[in-house]
Amino acid sequence: MRRILSFLVLGFGLFALGVRADDVPEGPVSLSSPGNILSVTIDAGPSGVTYSISRFGEPVIDASRLGLRFKDARALATGLAVTHVETRSVDETWPLPWGERAEVRNHFNELAVDLREVREEKGLDKGRSFRVVFRLYDDGLGFRYEIGKQSGIGAVEITDELTEFKFHDDATAWWIPGRQWNRYEYLYEKTPLDEVTMAHTPITMRTTGGLHISVHEAALLHYAGMSMRRVGPRQFVTDLAPWSDGVKVKTKAPFVTPWRTLQIADSAPGLINSDLILNLNEPNKLGDVSWVEPGKYVGIWWGMHLAIESWGSGPIHGATTENTKRYIDFAAKYGFKGVLVEGWNEGWDGDWFNNGDLFSFTKPYPDFDLEALGKYAAERGVRIIGHHETSGSVTNYENQMADAFKLYEKVGVRQVKTGYVANGGEIIRRDKKGHVFNEWHDGQFMAEHHERVLIEAAEHKISINAHEPIKDTGLRRTYPNWIAREGARGQEYNAWGEPGNPPSHTAILPFTRMLSGPMDFTPGIFDLLFEKEKPDNRVETTLAKQLALYVVLYSPIQMAADLPENYEKRLDAFQFIRDVPTDWADSRALTGEIGEQVTIVRKDRHSEDWYLGSLTDDHGRLLSVPLNFLTPGVTYKAQVYRDGLQAHWDSNPYDMIIEEIEVTSADTFPIRLAAGGGMAVRFTPAQ
Ligand code: NOJ
Ligand code: CA
Repeated sequence: MRRILSFLVLGFGLFALGVRADDVPEGPVSLSSPGNILSVTIDAGPSGVTYSISRFGEPVIDASRLGLRFKDARALATGLAVTHVETRSVDETWPLPWGERAEVRNHFNELAVDLREVREEKGLDKGRSFRVVFRLYDDGLGFRYEIGKQSGIGAVEITDELTEFKFHDDATAWWIPGRQWNRYEYLYEKTPLDEVTMAHTPITMRTTGGLHISVHEAALLHYAGMSMRRVGPRQFVTDLAPWSDGVKVKTKAPFVTPWRTLQIADSAPGLINSDLILNLNEPNKLGDVSWVEPGKYVGIWWGMHLAIESWGSGPIHGATTENTKRYIDFAAKYGFKGVLVEGWNEGWDGDWFNNGDLFSFTKPYPDFDLEALGKYAAERGVRIIGHHETSGSVTNYENQMADAFKLYEKVGVRQVKTGYVANGGEIIRRDKKGHVFNEWHDGQFMAEHHERVLIEAAEHKISINAHEPIKDTGLRRTYPNWIAREGARGQEYNAWGEPGNPPSHTAILPFTRMLSGPMDFTPGIFDLLFEKEKPDNRVETTLAKQLALYVVLYSPIQMAADLPENYEKRLDAFQFIRDVPTDWADSRALTGEIGEQVTIVRKDRHSEDWYLGSLTDDHGRLLSVPLNFLTPGVTYKAQVYRDGLQAHWDSNPYDMIIEEIEVTSADTFPIRLAAGGGMAVRFTPAQ
């Protein structure tokens, strides 16, 4: 009879408790999360190794396969036996230099299972071994493969990761397609789980039983990004983005894979209130990062998307010395720290989309005086935010990167927005002989490229905000200068037109893309219809919803994306953008249903103020939240920016009420959201 070993591991105290090594078990091995909510069971039989997950004893993931397949060696998948098991518990807190909260609690039970080939066959790779590590939290789990140094495994080419996910229950899924030309910039599909084809992660679902699950990965380094490919009813397999030669990962033992993660919660807000992805990343490698500066910025940007300015040279060139001074003056006047300047460098003329090799990252256009502007900005307490659009010509960028960051550092730049505008699978890598290879934005080449950028940038005290990036997997913990990224459809789609972002888009993002980390969405468009510039396009929100985005869509850097003249016409509403911080002591999602509505409150890191953002899809809603996050016994002044009674995103988007009321922690706060609307509130202790 098989014996099930259950290791009851209780975690107390601040640091890891001692490691416990157990005898070689005869049957499946299991472990539970600290609060005995989630458990995993690993079973190694002749036909392979599987894991399964349950929650409160009910199955969530049925026995699903584990393993790796190689180009020139037998797969590590079958004929394996458990040789050793270790468990440990960790309960610690660690500080976030910037983020949604000041400290993160990392509380998990870990199960490490060593597996070894036992088959009686001849061959060099007989007897190879590896370890599978599971970390169980109460709100989710991560697991990865660890391949140690050994004679049977040296340099390897991984052709497939065999990790499967067999969901026990049917579900509704929110997802975007993986391995497509437009990278992560698709509108989310909402379909039955069994209509998913291949999805990027995070992919989020709600089961028929009401459980909320999001699958993603953490700490994607020296490996290819994973998509989820459906191979049967409720059954998915890991699908790694390949190199141009078809191999998925080129590596050498010892190595570890990224963590495969599952967030599991009863409610949709429960997904947002989890730190799983950050916890599974390695601690800060950069040491003192006081030079990483969260904050708000404006920039020479929206004018290009409205086509009233150009990146390239000519009569409507945006990045002129004069225009940049105008933006610096505006930033200084209204308290913004940064001015992004796009189109300042040579290479934009002609078809920049297809001529990335022509970009210079050190030669400004003649009508742009970078050094003088650096000084002009510094004198006004502002910094230029740099821009490196590569058009996906990555080797061209890498060749210039060191000089480019050196130049920016010299003129006081602390943040650079990078860009990889190229179709999926068309990143240009050149070898030493100049031969071109096409790579994916989420393949191993780009995972390693982004890390090279972060390391080089850190040498110059520069933070990176990547557009058309690889997805976020929590690496901001290890590299705190990875300050934000795009990686979903942002505001710009509203300027580009059919289709723009429908009202539901920003009600889906918090439960999908945002679970991976901060997004440079660029909120705050006040001229929602831009009838002069692009009469056929518009922003599909109310004005109040543009304000709510600053709280709902977390990023340590937030742009006030509209043209300065549009803000000066609505200084009353602009006040909220001026006030709202971008660095938080605490954050909590209070209400939410995927694609319908969400309410998040956050406490400022540098004052006693709290902020609330709430938004809805194209349905009006009446919500209410208890204000019990406020300090009891203190009266707060609430500055409320809400949809007017006639507001509607389509017919009456500007109708907004700005009012001030007094509240305490004992109050329940009503949130009336118009169709496509939102609400933003600042709570300040009354004197
Ligand atoms: C796409 C980026 O998302 C956008 O912000 C930028 O202006 C253009 N590329 C040009 O780099
Ligand atoms: Ca983009």
